[in-house]
Amino acid sequence: MMRGQTVRLRPFGAGDVDFLHRWNNDPDYSGEFEPFEPVSREELEEWLPKEKPGQLWYIIETASGEKIGQVVGRLQDDGSVQIGYRVIPPARGMGYCTEAVRSLIDHLHRVRGVGRVTAEANPGNKPSLRLLVKLGFRRIAYKERAVEVNGVWLDGVVYELRMPKF
Ligand SMILES: CC(C)(COP(=O)(O)OP(=O)(O)OC[C@H]1O[C@@H](n2cnc3c(N)ncnc32)[C@H](O)[C@@H]1OP(=O)(O)O)[C@@H](O)C(=O)NCCC(=O)NCCS
Repeated sequence: MMRGQTVRLRPFGAGDVDFLHRWNNDPDYSGEFEPFEPVSREELEEWLPKEKPGQLWYIIETASGEKIGQVVGRLQDDGSVQIGYRVIPPARGMGYCTEAVRSLIDHLHRVRGVGRVTAEANPGNKPSLRLLVKLGFRRIAYKERAVEVNGVWLDGVVYELRMPKF
């Protein structure tokens, strides 16, 4: 369990089926810049307990234990970690995701010795770009046709955060 000031991160577990099923079948959760991938309850029940080598999935909870989103860290071959994040629409704009990503980065750095974290966002995804800049990420690349969303190819901006190795 990782704790920030307003949120905590808890590894995905069997008890998260209802939450993930409810929200991952709502296109507003993935938003206009991320692919919408509906998932059945059965698929979730099978996937949740499985080992996920190289992938760290966490539920974002408020301090009072309410589930409000998810973050993922995907370990890359070069030792860096690529992150992704989502917060449910009613909990957006309150600083929760910034705090969740801050906790994840802190864990990756302090506990796992990670020195580089990357993220990719659509150039029009203002909340996501703002979050990355707030946390000190720097833009390093622009990718044309990075991701297909609703049959349309969208560009992506790649950001990185470098942290001192100890
Ligand atoms: C991106 C996302 C996770 C942000 O979650 P969140 O909890 O609302 O984020 P936070 O509240 O921590 O921070 C958002 C920042 O963006 C700002 N913001 C929100 N809408 C904005 C807009 N239209 N223009 C500029 N800034 C905006 C907020 O004001 C806040 O900045 P501030 O602290 O300086 O005021 C959420 O919008 C989401 O789940 N989107 C759909 C999925 C997605 O796009 N994921 C990211 C893929 S790269």
